[in-house]
Amino acid sequence: MKDLYFDDLRTLMEALDKAGHLKRIRGAHWNLEIGTINEVLALKNGPALLFEDIPDYPGGYRVLSNTYQTQLGQRIAFGMNERGPATEIIKDWADKFAAFKPLPPRYVSTGPVMENVATGDGIDILKFPVPKWHEKDGGRYIGTANCVISKDPDEEFYNVGTYRVMVQEKGALNIYSSPGKHFTIMRDRYWAKGRDCPVVITFGQDPLLLGFAMITLPWGMGEFEATGYFKGRPVEVVKGPVTGLPIPCTAEIAVECTMSPGDELVEGPFGEWTGYYAMGAKTCPVARIKAIYHRNDPILHGQPPVPPPGNTWFPIPVHTAPTLWNNLLGAGLQGIKGVYIHGPGNRPICVISLQQKYMGHSKQVATIAAGLLTGGACVGKWIIVVDDDIDPSNFEQVWTAICLRADIERSVDIVRGFLNSGLDPSLSPEKKASGDLTTAKVIIDACKPWHWKDKFPKPIHVSEKLVQEVKKKFPDVFA
Ligand SMILES: Cc1cc2nc3c(=O)[nH]c(=O)nc-3n(C[C@H](O)[C@H](O)[C@H](O)COP(=O)(O)O)c2cc1C
Repeated sequence: MKDLYFDDLRTLMEALDKAGHLKRIRGAHWNLEIGTINEVLALKNGPALLFEDIPDYPGGYRVLSNTYQTQLGQRIAFGMNERGPATEIIKDWADKFAAFKPLPPRYVSTGPVMENVATGDGIDILKFPVPKWHEKDGGRYIGTANCVISKDPDEEFYNVGTYRVMVQEKGALNIYSSPGKHFTIMRDRYWAKGRDCPVVITFGQDPLLLGFAMITLPWGMGEFEATGYFKGRPVEVVKGPVTGLPIPCTAEIAVECTMSPGDELVEGPFGEWTGYYAMGAKTCPVARIKAIYHRNDPILHGQPPVPPPGNTWFPIPVHTAPTLWNNLLGAGLQGIKGVYIHGPGNRPICVISLQQKYMGHSKQVATIAAGLLTGGACVGKWIIVVDDDIDPSNFEQVWTAICLRADIERSVDIVRGFLNSGLDPSLSPEKKASGDLTTAKVIIDACKPWHWKDKFPKPIHVSEKLVQEVKKKFPDVFA
């Protein structure tokens, strides 16, 4: 069987090129030119972009961006079926997660990432062409498609997460990880013990490992183990000489750092995926670089936010939908036929298609889904339940059901007080300043009403039988 997965960024790049989905751009400057080209082409649903010959940098030092913002790029990068319906991919991932068996990383003595090593005075993170992506960004962001690798101080649990990383100076970075994120929990546990927190960050790596770093897996389900499980082979890692943490051996660039309690500097603002600067600039923990490793002619991977309707990551919403589907099943709910997510960043609008089985079923599913989808920026602000004749991935169909099957008085509820985040531009400055980051959710039951669904007006669609009969008689018309 064809191996659909890649072990590094270079082989992914070759596959994108082969699929006609890679554009090479020479001579663009790190200061806003790369970011501008990235945004304009992302908003046109353009291909992946490889920036070469970046002024002031060695010719081989490149930046790759826009790899994940189209369905084609995402399908190739994550080893998904390149043609099948997105709803089938969601179901496939839900089934794989449900049958998860951890496949731990394999330690090897060295790998390409160790081709170049810098420590002490040799440390300079700006030896790489780190872009300033958006005009009002507070700095150059090296981490927009990166993996932050850490170990819990008490448990044998390693986490890999994507959290933005800004360059402060040649040996110092900010890692912004929000409250509740697994890295934040681990880091704070080190600090509570009065210890420095060791951390590794990679910038350009195994595409599926990055995929899982961007997805909220439950505590205890490690991203290394999930990547190995999906691929059917372990991720190969080198033991970091400074921190002892695993460094993916095919990474393009990796740094080993320590973070000390109280060591903070101002980070941000950074152009956010909502299309706004809602969070502003704030003090943020600093990671002090102890060692830099990189491959020859390194490729820095970037996937910075672009404003909606650009879709920066996950055009097929595997970051949220498969987990929600499994959690709804775990809650004992039946009749779920599909789960999909729409809206800016593929986060705010959740649609569930349902075969209604009893009175109140659709409202029950909607309210439980609203409760389950929580704790992140704008996640599941709108929960919509539709009948199973509606394709939840087709927003035209969903919208039509809302307009024509939902009776607003019966079907629409507003439930207040869900945890959101400072990234939501609709939160008033006063509310944010008070520390209240909660907002309401809208629940829409757009199913046919259970009590009189059999009397619901009949659709006017021509029947498939009649279409076939007429097709036979007038084949030219249908050609
Ligand atoms: C490209 C990208 C950038 C992200 N940046 C941040 C960030 O700066 N801070 C943050 O807390 N979460 C960020 N997230 C969300 C986290 O990556 C996501 O919640 C992930 O599940 C975190 O890992 P964890 O569940 O192991 O904590 C980002 C997600 C993506 C896709």
